Amino acid sequence: TGSLTVGELAGKLHKEPSEIIKKLFMLGVMATINQDLDKDSIELIAGEYGVEVEEVIVFDVTEFEGYATEDQEDQLQIRPPVVTIMGHVDHGKTTLLDSIRNTKVTAGEAGGITQHIGAYQVVVNNKKITFLDTPGHAAFTTMRARGAQVTDITILVVAADDGVMPQTVEAISHAKAAEVPIIVAVNKMDKESANPDRVMQELTEYGLVSEAWGGDTIFVPLSALSGDGIEELLEMILLVSEVEEWKANPNRAATGTVIEAQLDKGRGSVATLLVQNGTLRVGDSIVVGNTFGRVRAMVNDLGRRVKEVGPSTPVEITGLSDVPQAGDQFMVFTDEKKARQVGEARASKQLDEQRKEGAKLSLDDLFEQI
Ligand code: GTP
Ligand code: MG
Repeated sequence: TGSLTVGELAGKLHKEPSEIIKKLFMLGVMATINQDLDKDSIELIAGEYGVEVEEVIVFDVTEFEGYATEDQEDQLQIRPPVVTIMGHVDHGKTTLLDSIRNTKVTAGEAGGITQHIGAYQVVVNNKKITFLDTPGHAAFTTMRARGAQVTDITILVVAADDGVMPQTVEAISHAKAAEVPIIVAVNKMDKESANPDRVMQELTEYGLVSEAWGGDTIFVPLSALSGDGIEELLEMILLVSEVEEWKANPNRAATGTVIEAQLDKGRGSVATLLVQNGTLRVGDSIVVGNTFGRVRAMVNDLGRRVKEVGPSTPVEITGLSDVPQAGDQFMVFTDEKKARQVGEARASKQLDEQRKEGAKLSLDDLFEQI
């Protein structure tokens, strides 16, 4: 009876929460794992799996074995980790990202072209790492608010001369809520006033105890400015990735999240997507948030045109009928008609909601005026 969260419903259906979220998405409902579902949504989803919802949801998992949309273990392949840089204002997040990009991207790629998108991949020891350059960005807020599972690792940048500050604490709580491992980058070590011990001390209060002090949090002292320590940080990222072994199935229709999107005078709607599962191809029919279209062209993080991209790859696409929002999820449909239907259904549902909100607002306004 009553409500269930997405996670609870997934548990009852013996399905992955991500699968339930995708189903909800197709039905026009944007949901996170901890979101309470209303009765209608629960019934709809359960119905998709042929389950009747009674007062108490009880059923037998053997009824659903035929429903094989989940990736099988043997279909999964190792994918690059998606790493997000977080931390307090001015602690050096952007400088760190630039520094990594300059040492890795421009050096490694012939005639490295200026970045087009705030997300990019570098190659370290023949292994790719995807970085999201989104601090302070609208996309980031949306992602944090939804606790989206885009990030595999959080790099918590703390300036050694400033220590733990409010946004440091905020970043920790977001990473913890999303159950994302944290690597602490103690930055600005080149400064005379740098005091890494103080950073370590302060972070113990938030449960981040360095390995040197008997804990299990990786701390990397570095200088984003001079580049000292950056190789170590990259190695640590690879180390964590080797342990975690993040996987995806490249042989399926792509799904993922919008990093940013805008209207371009010449190209129309331009969206930077992070492919999280599957392979995205030019020509794919796609639903992105409340909009849809066919992928007309794709440009990678080096500004080069590409025909297809696999899991953990950021890519800029054109061809959408409208501009989606940062944090929106996307899905590829095998059939263009279906994509259009789902896209239009979602758009009209959004319109309805806006109208309802509009109505509510004007009522409130009315009361205020009385
Ligand atoms: P927001 O995006 O505003 O939150 O800041 P940020 O964390 O991206 O900081 P940013 O990289 O813009 O750096 C802020 C200032 O710190 C700049 O003046 C940088 O040059 C300086 N800075 C960054 N890293 C280092 C470092 O390792 N050593 C020194 N000495 N200065 C640094
Ligand atoms: Mg910055």
